[in-house]
Amino acid sequence: MKVSIIGGGGRVGSNTAYALQCYGVVSEIAIVDVNEELAGGEALDLLHGASIAGDQRIYSCGIGDVGDSDVVCIAAGARRKPEETRLDLINRNVSIFRGILDELKAGGLRSNAILFVVSNPVDILTRMAVEHLGWESSRVIGLGTVLDTARFRSLIAEAKGYPATQVKALILGEHGDSMLPVWSSATMGGVSLGNLLTTHEQNQLFERAKTSGAEVLRGKGGAGYAVGLSIAEVIHSIALDRRQVLPVSTKLGGQYGLRDVCLSLPTVVGRDGAVDYVTPELWPKEVGALSASARALNETWGKVV
Ligand code: 2OP
Repeated sequence: MKVSIIGGGGRVGSNTAYALQCYGVVSEIAIVDVNEELAGGEALDLLHGASIAGDQRIYSCGIGDVGDSDVVCIAAGARRKPEETRLDLINRNVSIFRGILDELKAGGLRSNAILFVVSNPVDILTRMAVEHLGWESSRVIGLGTVLDTARFRSLIAEAKGYPATQVKALILGEHGDSMLPVWSSATMGGVSLGNLLTTHEQNQLFERAKTSGAEVLRGKGGAGYAVGLSIAEVIHSIALDRRQVLPVSTKLGGQYGLRDVCLSLPTVVGRDGAVDYVTPELWPKEVGALSASARALNETWGKVV
């Protein structure tokens, strides 16, 4: 399985490559970046660890050399400032993103390749990719709220002394200000978190998760490790056809009455991309928040198109 990371010289892209190397699931990692020297340096640094990490092909190349990729991950783009929302990034990243899509189209991609969008605003750019490439929507996946969900689970675990891997709490909707927590299905070790956390604790923990991107941005200039792990989690579900249920962003076709907008729902992710959805009954306030998230994204989409 070959994965090409466009923007692989950046913090998110290079941490993704490192996560993929450490897990050793994919066989080939191509680092692509407009800064070719940086891409080469990242690839070389990763290659130096191959004798310990495992036998993978790791190299840098041009965007014209990714046509044989099974997964193309786009993590290129400007990073937002702490005071900016992800949607504020839209003016800066849309033109970069469209240019990348055009180059990928010109170079040609496999008919079963998966396009994996990470750049922000990820939900908007995921929808743009589906429309710009004209692909079936199942083959275009956005990271969506996978990172938010990882943060949410980890912060709940840290606050309560729980094992983080046993906390199962979803964040859905926009990877942005209108994201929503799904307490109706949140558990720890199979026990409802609604019975383990007070309402105040629930609100505090969700707010901390929602603003974690800005918090990390202020602290170290931007996310790296957790977003790299989140991206690798999705790629491994594709590579191994695990069909894991992950809150990735996809173009919806009527789930919860939502159509055409891209946002995160529990999605079955396999080698063929977003192959199905799991649409549990949500609390009325959760359904309302999901619709509000869709409205916010559609309003922004209207500004872009
Ligand atoms: C974040 O939340 C990069 O949008 C990403 O940190």
